[in-house]
Amino acid sequence: MTYAAITSVASWLPERRLTNADLERMVDTSDEWIRTRTGISERRVADDADATSDLAARAGALALERAGVAPGDVDMLIVATSTPDMAFPSTACLAQAKMGLTCPAFDINAACTGFIYALELAASMIEANRLTTVLVIGAEVLTRLLDFTDRTTCVLFGDGAGAVVVQASDEAGVLSVHLGADGGGADLLTVPGGGSALPMTAELLSQGTQYIHMNGNEVYKFAVRAIPRVTKQALAESGLSLADVDWLVPHQANERITLTVGERLGISHDRVVNAIAMTGNTSTASIPLALDDLQRSGKLHAGDVLALVGFGAGLTYGAAIVRWTLKEA
Ligand code: COA
Repeated sequence: MTYAAITSVASWLPERRLTNADLERMVDTSDEWIRTRTGISERRVADDADATSDLAARAGALALERAGVAPGDVDMLIVATSTPDMAFPSTACLAQAKMGLTCPAFDINAACTGFIYALELAASMIEANRLTTVLVIGAEVLTRLLDFTDRTTCVLFGDGAGAVVVQASDEAGVLSVHLGADGGGADLLTVPGGGSALPMTAELLSQGTQYIHMNGNEVYKFAVRAIPRVTKQALAESGLSLADVDWLVPHQANERITLTVGERLGISHDRVVNAIAMTGNTSTASIPLALDDLQRSGKLHAGDVLALVGFGAGLTYGAAIVRWTLKEA
């Protein structure tokens, strides 16, 4: 049996910081409100000259270097993103050229669950013996979809990229993945304008349809229900139980969501990875960013079991149960 295992993780963040104090000067908000309601202190903002593919290529190149994989040895590149450079070509093709890869490359859009969807694709193709090495990247420049006059959304999101190399292995790394979608909730989190449904016009621009629109309360309720459920489904499929989970790595959308789902699953706070304070919600990048943080903290050990769990627009959700096979650096 060929297994799929994560053989490196990396992340890349822009240098420019947007703090809560900066936002206090832009909208009617406060550092106290943002920190207590979300856990966010600051987020990063991409340079004007950079697009999502630039961030993706930097995180991807670092992940390849850490895995010791040459660009010519990558069999497939999957970029999960909610903020593609443009409708087409795909962000993956643009990043592929920037990294000097020659493999097939494509994007997937499952919003903030995109990294888990991409991991499932990569692992499935490896387990089917179709591919040996897949580079999976989650990358976003979400600040370009924010209305910086809307305090209900502009304080939440940030830019960044994270990547993993997934490779064929004798050791079981990706143990199970459970994915879900509920299009009935599609209207809860959208960027309504600019696609085929609402091609951009001056009027739509003046209405702000190019920005993120969200029903925060409903998304919150969905998240705290969906994350525990899908985590248990994925665990059951892996043959493990909650007691086996060493680390819960949820999508970083709000620290209150992260802590609540940890409590509902009976996983203690020190085993729930919380990396939102300095990045905000980076959508598809948030899980590999949090994983890279955990790996660099030295707390993650070979043999540890991780539950990586995403949720987001769509509505989409998904959980991957992973046994960490990398030795400490
Ligand atoms: N600063 C100050 N006040 C704000 C504010 C801000 N940035 N944003 C909203 N408020 C106000 C509201 O207007 C409201 O005022 P009112 O009581 O006078 O009407 C009050 O704060 C409470 O708003 P509410 O929306 O109930 O707050 P909340 O505690 O539910 O937190 C979110 C709002 C968005 C942080 C929370 O609902 C959330 O995180 N939802 C999930 C979002 C998410 O995960 N999205 C990404 C999915 S991938």
